Amino acid sequence: MNFYRGRRLRKTASLRKMVRESAITPENLVQPYFVVEGDEHLEKPINSMPGQFQLGVDSLLKHIAMAAQDGLTSLILFGIPQKKDAKASQAYSDQGIVQRAVSKIKSAYPELVVITDVCLCEYMDHGHCGIIRDEQVLNDPSLELLAMTALSHARAGADIIAPSDMMDGRVGFIRKALDKKDFSDLPVMSYAVKYASAFYGPFRDAAQSAPSFGDRKTYQMDPANSREATREANADIEEGADILMVKPALPYLDIIRNLRQNFSLPVAAYQVSGEYSLIKAGARLGYIDEKKIVMETITSIKRAGADLILTYFAADIASWLKQEG
Ligand code: PBG
Repeated sequence: MNFYRGRRLRKTASLRKMVRESAITPENLVQPYFVVEGDEHLEKPINSMPGQFQLGVDSLLKHIAMAAQDGLTSLILFGIPQKKDAKASQAYSDQGIVQRAVSKIKSAYPELVVITDVCLCEYMDHGHCGIIRDEQVLNDPSLELLAMTALSHARAGADIIAPSDMMDGRVGFIRKALDKKDFSDLPVMSYAVKYASAFYGPFRDAAQSAPSFGDRKTYQMDPANSREATREANADIEEGADILMVKPALPYLDIIRNLRQNFSLPVAAYQVSGEYSLIKAGARLGYIDEKKIVMETITSIKRAGADLILTYFAADIASWLKQEG
């Protein structure tokens, strides 16, 4: 018989492993954490994201200690301040919650890669990612606040700055501000291609950052667009981005592939809150096998071309991989 015998290389587990094209390693995974100002021992479950918590600084350090033991090497921080206002003061205060958490994490675990999300929505009383006038999100005046936020994260000891606001020109503006203050070696991971997605729903509960009016469609991208992803990536590269992120991940595998094929920078993908919660809900109902579905989705995101994956399953995956040896 003369036909292609694909089954030859699928015969045993060792053979399959030998020819496997994509592998998941804990070093490529980033665990997001929500850190809350106030009670340092807070550990409040997030209803819409089973298994995730709003954490006080102390509890955060405990969660990180466990995850690091399992082999997790990187995390991204989102802050929830006690006071929100119309100029996001707590986003760029050196005493802000993210700033304090970063310096504590870095002194306890200097080798961990600590990424900070740079955005204003969690710190604004209206929940939008920039300054508001007449119900419009103003682009250029918001850049100043974003740069101040990035700088204060840098001073606190962040290893990577990740702007997620989607204001135009922010990567270049932040890059310049960092360079001017001697942070020219601090990398910027840009949320370059961030869609206006319903998959962020659970996050907005978790971070208490839902916009009080309107939506984010005037600054985040239209899910129908693919060529626009190339334009956004080009702009961020020109402005000095070091890593390009696509967000969400699984419904946007074509976009991840586009960036991988057209650019040489590392590509990150964010498996967002809605992607996480859908899997959790399906598993809770007994419809799917959580672990298998998680590994398959993460593998798919890798296969599409992501070097790094931000996922709420990162710590779990690290511990599963460790158990398997
Ligand atoms: C802040 C930000 C959001 C997410 C990451 N950074 C929310 C949003 O843009 O509304 C979403 C992450 C997730 O859903 O897991 N702008």
